[in-house]
Amino acid sequence: MSVAELLDGRHVCVCAGSGGVGKTTTSAAIAMGMAARGLKVAVVTIDPAKRLATSLGLEELGNAEQRIDHELFERHGLEMRGELWAMMLDAKRTWDDMIERRAPDVQTRDAILGNRIYQQLSTAVAGTTEYMALERLYELHEERRYDLLVLDTPPTRQALDFLDAPHRLSRFIDSRSLQFFLRPGVLGVRAFGRGTGLMFGALKRVTGSDFLRDLSEFFGAFGDMAIGIRERAGKATELLADRRTTFLLITSPRRDAIDDAVFFRRRLRDEHLPFGGAIVNRVHEAMSADDEDASVEEDLAALLGQPLAGKVARNYEAYRRVTRRDRENVDALERELGGEPLIRVPLLDDDVHDLPGLAEIAEHLFAEEAVAA
Ligand SMILES: Nc1ncnc2c1ncn2[C@@H]1O[C@H](COP(=O)(O)OP(=O)(O)O)[C@@H](O)[C@H]1O
Ligand SMILES: [Mg+2]
Repeated sequence: MSVAELLDGRHVCVCAGSGGVGKTTTSAAIAMGMAARGLKVAVVTIDPAKRLATSLGLEELGNAEQRIDHELFERHGLEMRGELWAMMLDAKRTWDDMIERRAPDVQTRDAILGNRIYQQLSTAVAGTTEYMALERLYELHEERRYDLLVLDTPPTRQALDFLDAPHRLSRFIDSRSLQFFLRPGVLGVRAFGRGTGLMFGALKRVTGSDFLRDLSEFFGAFGDMAIGIRERAGKATELLADRRTTFLLITSPRRDAIDDAVFFRRRLRDEHLPFGGAIVNRVHEAMSADDEDASVEEDLAALLGQPLAGKVARNYEAYRRVTRRDRENVDALERELGGEPLIRVPLLDDDVHDLPGLAEIAEHLFAEEAVAA
């Protein structure tokens, strides 16, 4: 199975998986491979390693889409029939843009953007980066400028965090505490009755009086927009369930990553979200299939002499143990998937930080492409 088949007819590809497995690298390689085949593709990366960002021309944050110059591909002898665009998600900026679009007037906009509660909310609340990644995806989807959008997801410990983000935002907006603040008059004079007076009194002591003003101002201005933002979160969530969307699950062969992948697959099933397949990245490949039990030490001794041969043989044995472990873990995932696509990408000798490196990953992702295509 090739990624080209998994993405055939799809408009959105969400690369999900737990942190550190190579999500960002794989997302970029998928986007590059699909662009090479003639599509106009945008990849939204979240936390690219510095050198990868540099080689994609993403030197600074700010949500701006950059087209990777055709000439760069030519220089490395790489075919590029379509267009590859990349951008780095700036969660804060995405919030700000959203506020700008939704604010009823300039005063409201400035009041919110300058408000300290808002500034905290837009960066510190758990799940906001995840939600903003989704928001950015939805925005690009609405603009309809690309054939395919590839979304790298934030480096959470667990893959599931991404799926929970919109719920969490909606829950926050619907929460009793927010509703309390949004009630007309709550922050006015009436509010300082017994209970609230105590609460605000305590807050005031801790935070200083500006906090109250910020709070009042923020909820006053944000209140009317909250409903709209909530609605949009709903639509963005619908995009994830769209028939032209697919989730690819990125994992490594490590046991914890595989376990996480299994949970994620089940969760997608429970929520009726579209699943394309799993990509297991950084697999230690067996040197050859048939030498499983053969001892290399004797052969080596003839060549290298005893002490060195012993060392090399022990090294080799350690490597074989890792390949066996990888294979057992990947087999477990394969059983869970029950025939659903699984693609293996080997651990390369070097980090992947430039276009030729991405092309090498892409080669494995697209390896089993039907020749007819
Ligand atoms: N198949 C691979 N072989 C070798 N190095 C890899 C491979 N895939 C990813 N890497 C390297 O692993 C590191 C983490 O990859 P990254 O894509 O940033 O992971 P994540 O986004 O999941 O945190 C990077 O230095 C990257 O170059
Ligand atoms: Mg990453």
